[in-house]
Amino acid sequence: MTPNQLEETTEYLIAKGFDKPEIGIVLGTGLGQLVAEIKDPVEAHYNHIPSFPLATVEFHTGKLIYGEIEGKKVVVMQGRFHLYEGYDLIDITYPIRVMEKLGIKKLLVSNAAGAINLDFKKGDLMLIDDHINLQGGSPLAFKNVAEFGERFVDMSQPYDKEMGDALSKIAGEQNISLKKGVYASVVGPQLETRAEYRYLKIIGADAVGMSTVPEVIVANHLNLPCVAVSVLTDECNPDNLKPINVPEIIEVAGKAEPKMIILFKELIKQL
Ligand code: HPA
Repeated sequence: MTPNQLEETTEYLIAKGFDKPEIGIVLGTGLGQLVAEIKDPVEAHYNHIPSFPLATVEFHTGKLIYGEIEGKKVVVMQGRFHLYEGYDLIDITYPIRVMEKLGIKKLLVSNAAGAINLDFKKGDLMLIDDHINLQGGSPLAFKNVAEFGERFVDMSQPYDKEMGDALSKIAGEQNISLKKGVYASVVGPQLETRAEYRYLKIIGADAVGMSTVPEVIVANHLNLPCVAVSVLTDECNPDNLKPINVPEIIEVAGKAEPKMIILFKELIKQL
């Protein structure tokens, strides 16, 4: 990644009409329906955007969409890049740098995750309050990182408290149960063993998934305030573990998605 590449990518998008978006949104697995709320959408397929990673996972539509939600200019990633697809951490987080360069001032992230905290149930939403990086690397560990910002990024408050509190308040007003907890990111794509779920609980995770943390690290690198919400798609009880499959995860995410759309839309209205 070079500053010139970033420049070329953003120029392409600006020429397509991505005009000074204020808010960036990353939509997770099974959580693509927020795009139906975008007014006057302009789309750019990942595979057409210069220097973007090539989209692979079939259930992700793989495009960047610009438009308006609640009167705010947004840029939405419909589908994200994952380590388990064979990308590296720099590829995965490249779109975050692009959105920031386009002008976003806030980042909203969603994902599907497994519930490690057994007080949380399948279909619940969880505001990510903090995270544990178990992906074995950092999106900031590259030679020319100094051309993009600080190398040693503070992570004492990686998720914006103001936006998080606003989401909790909105959830209360809308009668949506929004849990709060720690998200652990793993590489995947295999799901966890019973021993791994036990380990995740012991180290303090409330949820586990295969995304989000690299993007949030880069958002912090860019001083970009972010919030993230997990849709809990399965209950990871090591003492009564049922086989999990991805179609089921997507189905549960889809059912919980309307609640997430309400939260994000209302937050966008207030930003
Ligand atoms: N583990 C890892 N990632 C996940 C899970 C899980 O149980 N559920 C949804 N994404």
